Amino acid sequence: MNVLGIESSCDETGVALVSFEGDALPRLRAQALHSQVDMHQAYGGVVPELASRDHIRRVLPLTRQVLAEAGAGLPDIDLVAYTRGPGLAGALLVGAGVAVSLAAALGRPTLGVHHLEGHLLSPFLSADPPQFPFVALLVSGGHTQLMRVDGVAQYSLLGETVDDAAGEAFDKSAKLLGLGYPGGPALSKLAQQGRDGAFDLPRPLLHKPNLDFSFAGLKTAVAVRVGRLPSPLDESQRADMAASVQAAIVDVLCAKSLRALQATGLKRLVVAGGVGANLPLRERLGRECERIGARVHYPELALCTDNGAMIALAAALRVQHGVTTPSSAGAFDVRPRWDLALA
Ligand code: KG4
Ligand code: ZN
Repeated sequence: MNVLGIESSCDETGVALVSFEGDALPRLRAQALHSQVDMHQAYGGVVPELASRDHIRRVLPLTRQVLAEAGAGLPDIDLVAYTRGPGLAGALLVGAGVAVSLAAALGRPTLGVHHLEGHLLSPFLSADPPQFPFVALLVSGGHTQLMRVDGVAQYSLLGETVDDAAGEAFDKSAKLLGLGYPGGPALSKLAQQGRDGAFDLPRPLLHKPNLDFSFAGLKTAVAVRVGRLPSPLDESQRADMAASVQAAIVDVLCAKSLRALQATGLKRLVVAGGVGANLPLRERLGRECERIGARVHYPELALCTDNGAMIALAAALRVQHGVTTPSSAGAFDVRPRWDLALA
């Protein structure tokens, strides 16, 4: 079965073709991505209306590119999957509209996928796929959650951020340091030249026994410290601050992930979402999990941030496990806010 996946929830247009036979794990045939980062950079963040318009421009050329790379044609598509939510309403509507129209023209069904389900299942396309059950740390620009995952569509929330997401903490701190958008990769690069302990920044909720996160105070602390330093900051102070911010975020994410493994008694951790591309986070989790005899699984680096492959994969796994029946109704809706446990 060939599943075309379309992702358009935020500032990346992603299209991919995933195939599966019987019980075998789905495999990625081809994928293409267009990032809008350059376009939004001038505004310091995503401009929703511009995002929607750009998705319209990109989605069909990307679809043609994916089919050509996979050596497939439109009639080979058996199911069209799209991101139904959460995300920007206008951006979601573009992907959903194109998916449903394409499916109607081909006489094929559609399946609306939860964006975070795509992220948390994405390691199943890696060379080292996990087995159920596992704990998932979902760390993106909009979400920071720990989930218990017992199988496809069996997700229970263990803890989440009470305010900003981890990616947001990276992005907002990066902005305060005069780095571009998105800030995570830029801050992490600058941090390589800095000292972790140069600034003593808060680790909110670190010592609370629950599995929740809070990152809003970290951004405020960075703003206060930066405000106290002579302006403009010199290069070594910026690097020290970047390293200290990253260390604070990594400390909290690691501590809570380990606590979630302990609380559930599980020995497998999946880390997914854009912040999962952060190398110091990967190194630290790798070391700490090894110490307690647990394993960490990641998506391929290219599939950490938003992409169409994870959407096609989530749809393929849902169909394969018989948990969702694709729709042939031709009607659709999008869910800008959508709880994964209810998906
Ligand atoms: O999952 P994603 O692509 O989009 C959302 O669904 O939000 O995640 C984007 C987030 C941004 O906040 C970005 O700064 C962060 O992931 N990010 C990183 C890195 N790469 C992306 N944060 C830290 N280190 C990275 N290497
Ligand atoms: Zn995402």
